[in-house]
Amino acid sequence: MTTRLFRNARIWTPVDKGGGTPVSGPRQGELSRWDPGALVCHEGRITAIGDERDVVKGVAASDIEEIDCRGRCLVPGFVDPHTHMCFCRAREEEFSARLDGADYLEILKAGGGILSSVREVRSASEEELFRLTRARALSALRHGTTTVEIKSGYGLDVGSELKQLRVIARVARETPLRVVPTFLGAHAVPPEYEGRADAYVDLIISEMIPAVSEAGLARFCDVFCEQGVFTVSQTRRVLGAARAAGLGLKLHADELSGTGGAELAASLQAASADHLLAVSESGLRAMAGAGVVGVLLPGTAYAMRKPYAPARKMIAMNVPVAVATDCNPGSSFTESVPFIFGLAVLQMGLSAAEALNACTLNAACAVGMGRETGSLSPGKRADFLLLEGETPAILAFHAGVPPVFQVYVEGKVAWQ
Ligand code: NIG
Ligand code: FE
Repeated sequence: MTTRLFRNARIWTPVDKGGGTPVSGPRQGELSRWDPGALVCHEGRITAIGDERDVVKGVAASDIEEIDCRGRCLVPGFVDPHTHMCFCRAREEEFSARLDGADYLEILKAGGGILSSVREVRSASEEELFRLTRARALSALRHGTTTVEIKSGYGLDVGSELKQLRVIARVARETPLRVVPTFLGAHAVPPEYEGRADAYVDLIISEMIPAVSEAGLARFCDVFCEQGVFTVSQTRRVLGAARAAGLGLKLHADELSGTGGAELAASLQAASADHLLAVSESGLRAMAGAGVVGVLLPGTAYAMRKPYAPARKMIAMNVPVAVATDCNPGSSFTESVPFIFGLAVLQMGLSAAEALNACTLNAACAVGMGRETGSLSPGKRADFLLLEGETPAILAFHAGVPPVFQVYVEGKVAWQ
């Protein structure tokens, strides 16, 4: 296999101390930078990176393919650590109703929202669901995502949850993307268990988690811990069973109301607590203490016209901050990390450096991939982007137009 040398690039990357640990506090705003920089990869892995002159000196001239980046900005491929992109159709009529004042959780209570997506996923064929999900994954790739987490959660019965997870596994096999699958059986209480949430939790624990782990189809288990959905104690039961089955833990925590989800995530040492629009100060302190990554989803606050999560406060309190699209058919219908990057910078007040760490290294750590990807460090996979711009800030500046020129996965062009 040939060695590739990418030269004449403006390189920006997280400062990775190794070991797959996220950056927080002042370190969230630090990046390594080389201009002009060069990167070498061999067999899909990064073998050298740094100042162009130093890097070029270190490589043998024969059997090397040289790529002139023409001064473009070179950054790690994005990691999108929270999506629900395995669904049939986006609920556009519901978006319009919300613009006219309808409430998200009221729509869900009336059998719409997540539950209308559940009806569609249950009746869709596996092939159809695969085609729809693959199309969204490839759109994410065109927007610079090279690793994506995808949740189930629109099946809510054993067979339909497994169908979603098989579709997600097939997306991993049949696209260039790296996919992290998450089981989200506790996304809503399905209609056949209406008013019997505890009995549904029993089903998750006694049948779904064993079936999912036996099939090896999930790496994480997530729960929508929210007033009127799953309580803190139901969440604790589900995640306890998930941990015993060998799954990593994640929570939709304090999204619409502060229920103590962040505190629970910290006490369980979950990989991440996500959303956090209504997180308490004690929840943030607990997360910082336990090293739980806070995955912020500003696309959801944007589309729901809610106040954004307290990102600056989180950085001040040493909570490692990641961002994600939350790509789903209801509360955040986008697969574009550049759009999320723009919201993080212009609406949540992150610096461009903080936002780049949030959608690369910290995002990778939130899905247990911090040793493999998320920064341009020797030994890691050569997943990176060339941007039409000089600095990562172009992602926020060129509003609504992703400046992604080329996407590389394992050193090879995956999209241009
Ligand atoms: O993360 N909060 C729960 N789940 C998704 C929304 C799913 C949907 O509306 O279909 C979220 O916002
Ligand atoms: Fe979500």
